[in-house]
Amino acid sequence: MEGFSGKVAVVTGAGSGIGRALAVELARSGAKVAISDIDNEGLAETERQIKSLGGDVRSDRLNVAEREAFLLYADVVKEHFGKVNQIYNNAGIDFHGEVEASQFKDIERIIDVDFWGVVNGTKAFLPHLIASGDGHVVNVSSIFGVMSCPGQSAYNAAKFAVRGFSESLRQEMIIGKKPVAVTCVHPGGIKTNVARNATMAEGYDPAEFAKLFDLLARTSPQAAARIILTAVRRKKPRVLVGPDAKVIDVLVRLTGARYQDLFALGARFLLPKRSH
Ligand SMILES: NC(=O)c1ccc[n+]([C@@H]2O[C@H](COP(=O)([O-])OP(=O)(O)OC[C@H]3O[C@@H](n4cnc5c(N)ncnc54)[C@H](O)[C@@H]3O)[C@@H](O)[C@H]2O)c1
Repeated sequence: MEGFSGKVAVVTGAGSGIGRALAVELARSGAKVAISDIDNEGLAETERQIKSLGGDVRSDRLNVAEREAFLLYADVVKEHFGKVNQIYNNAGIDFHGEVEASQFKDIERIIDVDFWGVVNGTKAFLPHLIASGDGHVVNVSSIFGVMSCPGQSAYNAAKFAVRGFSESLRQEMIIGKKPVAVTCVHPGGIKTNVARNATMAEGYDPAEFAKLFDLLARTSPQAAARIILTAVRRKKPRVLVGPDAKVIDVLVRLTGARYQDLFALGARFLLPKRSH
């Protein structure tokens, strides 16, 4: 895959899954990459993979929810590479639990990472992306930013918010004639650690949740990265990743708000139950 030679790309949550695949694929296609994560071991493995390809990589521990650290990080990356062309706001976590069973702190944690992490990254890097003359913000939402699922209210809220934020930003860049493209990414089930890294309300069996995810997630992170990077090269405003995401998108368009009744029916049989 070509098209990123000479570009500088920043990938958050690059220690696993989609973030790692994006970082490796970007390096393979000639980009210099700044990778970050809170998981040092995962990050070191991604760095090793990029170096084995002969890639130019900078690796930092960064919690995307920590705004001040993110702002400092943006300047450090710009200083290191001389410019920044692309940010992939990818880091994310999941929580499963009905609204009634969720604590405020459970919901806040998801919003802090999945929404504020994206806002922090976008705001911190936007001046550098504009200055590069060829910038791109790539925000990872989810197919759960297109449809809601029972037990996922916090994650749904964050991922719908990422979509709204990104679509607004894209129009601002057009109106202001700023040289920054914006792509919002909506993956379906991708075979990563997201379900195993998820937290859940009391009474759920994490193993059952992971088993269901393994059954439903059909797309590899490498295939997801290739689809995302093709959309980035084409400066597409939205990319649906995987056949499941495409089917769900069509279903939501066809049924409007009534998709909720259909999914509630299916989820009653499919989703793990709480023990109490
Ligand atoms: N896997 C899927 O099916 C799927 C579907 C839709 C959307 N997504 C989204 O894709 C993105 C990547 O997830 P993934 O599937 O690769 O999961 P993953 O768990 O394999 O990787 C996520 C990475 O983000 C890191 N991370 C978590 N919290 C962080 C924080 N506060 N600061 C920095 N890094 C942090 C983790 O350490 C991990 O390395 C997430 O935003 C997720 O919501 C995933």
